[in-house]
Amino acid sequence: MKRRFRKADPFSIVIFGGTGDLTHRKLAPALYRLMLDGHLPEETIVCGVARRDWSDEYFRDQLREAVLAGPEGKDFNEDAWRRLTRNMVYVRGDADEPGTYSRVDAKLREIGQSMEARPDRNRLYYLATLPSLYEALITSIGELERSRNEGWGRIVVEKPFGHDLESAVRLNALLARYFEENQVFRIDHYLGKETVQNILVFRFANGIFEPIWNRHYIDHVQITVAESIGVGHRGAFYEEAGALRDMVQNHMLQLLSLIAMEAPSSFDARAIRNEKVKVLRSMPLPTVESIARNTVRGQYTTGRIGGETVPGYRDEPGVAPDSQVETFAALRVGIENWRWAGVPFLLRTGKRLPERSSKIVVSFKCPPHLAFKRSMVPELRSNTLVIHIQPREGITLSIGAKVPGAEMQVRNVDMEFYYERTFQERSAEAYEYLLLEAILGDTTMFIRGDEAETAWRYIEAVRAGWDENVVPLSMYPAGTWGPQEATRLLESATVCTGPASGDDDPWATRIGMCALTDWDPS
Ligand code: BG6
Repeated sequence: MKRRFRKADPFSIVIFGGTGDLTHRKLAPALYRLMLDGHLPEETIVCGVARRDWSDEYFRDQLREAVLAGPEGKDFNEDAWRRLTRNMVYVRGDADEPGTYSRVDAKLREIGQSMEARPDRNRLYYLATLPSLYEALITSIGELERSRNEGWGRIVVEKPFGHDLESAVRLNALLARYFEENQVFRIDHYLGKETVQNILVFRFANGIFEPIWNRHYIDHVQITVAESIGVGHRGAFYEEAGALRDMVQNHMLQLLSLIAMEAPSSFDARAIRNEKVKVLRSMPLPTVESIARNTVRGQYTTGRIGGETVPGYRDEPGVAPDSQVETFAALRVGIENWRWAGVPFLLRTGKRLPERSSKIVVSFKCPPHLAFKRSMVPELRSNTLVIHIQPREGITLSIGAKVPGAEMQVRNVDMEFYYERTFQERSAEAYEYLLLEAILGDTTMFIRGDEAETAWRYIEAVRAGWDENVVPLSMYPAGTWGPQEATRLLESATVCTGPASGDDDPWATRIGMCALTDWDPS
């Protein structure tokens, strides 16, 4: 059967926040790449909207430079860029000035009228502005859409989707006033990552893992999103967010729901998102007492990364000198359902950790009985399956194997699959994939309204405990794996703990050393 090639119908994309960082770093390169690869029609209209007084030409030049400066700058294809910018325009405007929207509308019509395909009739509105403008934008875009009865209209809402449960509920209500749920695309760029999507394929396109994907065989699951960067110039934003809101509410809980969900009946938005939200609903809301036991929060102080001394969080620009905001969060969460009861899921994320590394480690239970003498298996670890999300993308399965030689010695080895070795095809950038999905109208890899609210409900419960200082803020030097306290979460979680093995990540050393009991029933 021929592979399906996905090409969009003629459409317009209107980017609010057109002069901003996201447009330059992510959206422009993604649009360019989609045009280069033939996914976008020649008639595509790209309209940037922002407050600065830019001309169409200046807008195009700025975006061109941004694309050239990024990974797409290598082997830049002038022809694809020319096709993308043929109908690329800029409209100056404020989110709360009604004239902005009529100017956008008039501009799109003016360009569209000259083309038979009428790309102005199908519109994707992209909110890439400060979140404080979302309500004004949604209302005015909604009103504009109400006044049209031609083509389609869709809206992409960037993260953060709300600041807390209340604001997320309010945004959802506003969106629902003007749009159907299938017109709304709440982005979490982790869902656009190749390896994250592969979680679904790995679990549901293979028959051999699903039977053991449960409490009977899995001891615990670790989800780590480690970053070596600090908050950089985003200090002011980060002071309002912290790791819990910035990373756990969205990226980490999304990874968790993909790992833990039941098999969907079909690969479509409704079925997949139904299953994901069920996972989030199965997480019992933490009490003050359980927050104290199951969560750790930390903040980096000055330290060394990659041979360089870096400032502590409180010394970053835009950060209060006595800030209590966490740059590290670790949580032990449970999923109370038939499949997962009793299995700890350990989530950990932080800035200024020793390396950039995101992965999911599924640690299986130890063999029920080890027939080998203790001297033969001093280092035996339980089986682990690691889904490497970044920077290297792949999956490894660690198994015990006999060390060659006349003696019986067992050591763990990895069965490895890495994308760069296996595939010739390049991985699509997360934004490239997600933009195309939104253009094609597929919401599967976007967050549904109830999903966002359920995630917020959980986060808010944790946040409330933290605000009451149920868990002290622990300091960790930049370049280390976060506060010592985080290790405690894991120790009590796993039946397979054991001594360290040379790795300086305290969670890595604990992955499933098989405990050999001294008790002898004979
Ligand atoms: C963003 C957060 O959503 O994700 C940032 O706001 C974080 O703080 C970033 O650095 C991480 O994304 P990635 O794709 O680099 O892992």
